Amino acid sequence: MSCDWELRYQTGDSPWDKGGPHPELADYLKTHPLSGRVLVPGCGPGHDVRAIAASGAEVVGIDIAPSAIELSRKHPAVGRERYELADLFALPASHEAAYDWVWEHTCFCAIDPGLRGNYAKAIASVLKPGGHFLAMFYLNPDREPGSNEPPFGVSESELDALFGASFELLEHWVPSRTHPGREGREQLRLYRKRA
Ligand SMILES: C[S@@+](CC[C@H](N)C(=O)[O-])C[C@H]1O[C@@H](n2cnc3c(N)ncnc32)[C@H](O)[C@@H]1O
Repeated sequence: MSCDWELRYQTGDSPWDKGGPHPELADYLKTHPLSGRVLVPGCGPGHDVRAIAASGAEVVGIDIAPSAIELSRKHPAVGRERYELADLFALPASHEAAYDWVWEHTCFCAIDPGLRGNYAKAIASVLKPGGHFLAMFYLNPDREPGSNEPPFGVSESELDALFGASFELLEHWVPSRTHPGREGREQLRLYRKRA
């Protein structure tokens, strides 16, 4: 079930790269600019990182694929953003309780579903107490039945079970704008890490 992300970038097989940030994130930032330190796991080419940095926050994008980090770094800086080659599941201790916000977009759906408990622990561990987890979950990607390849969908009840212990769900909504083909398939959730 694992995916060779580096190979996908090297062969140009990266259909998730839409050339810009998630439209709902861009809209959200106009009225809710993020502040403090923000982590973007699985940042890919970094479009969301730069959108958040442009709104004023200090942003760290991490990705496991060296080519994703190279691509990100080719873009001119827009603010206080930087990119690190790192595995979300093996982060250096310097990331622990270091962030006020985590922005999730197509990283959760990319990882092996068997690692989702580890994903929830990793997000809880990087956030400060009271920190916010803003996540665009891809509930039901358009996949062939039985597909063993990402993106992997998720149910609302699974999300509740995964994040309920460490996070309080503040709000959730269906994005009013998204990339073509994803309409009605996503849910944006705003969580606060429990103290
Ligand atoms: C579907 S892509 C999405 C990229 C980006 N979020 C976007 O929307 O353009 C998933 C990304 O997660 C990265 N990734 C997968 N597993 C990871 C891990 N354990 N730690 C960090 N990044 C990871 C991949 O290399 C890839 O860039």
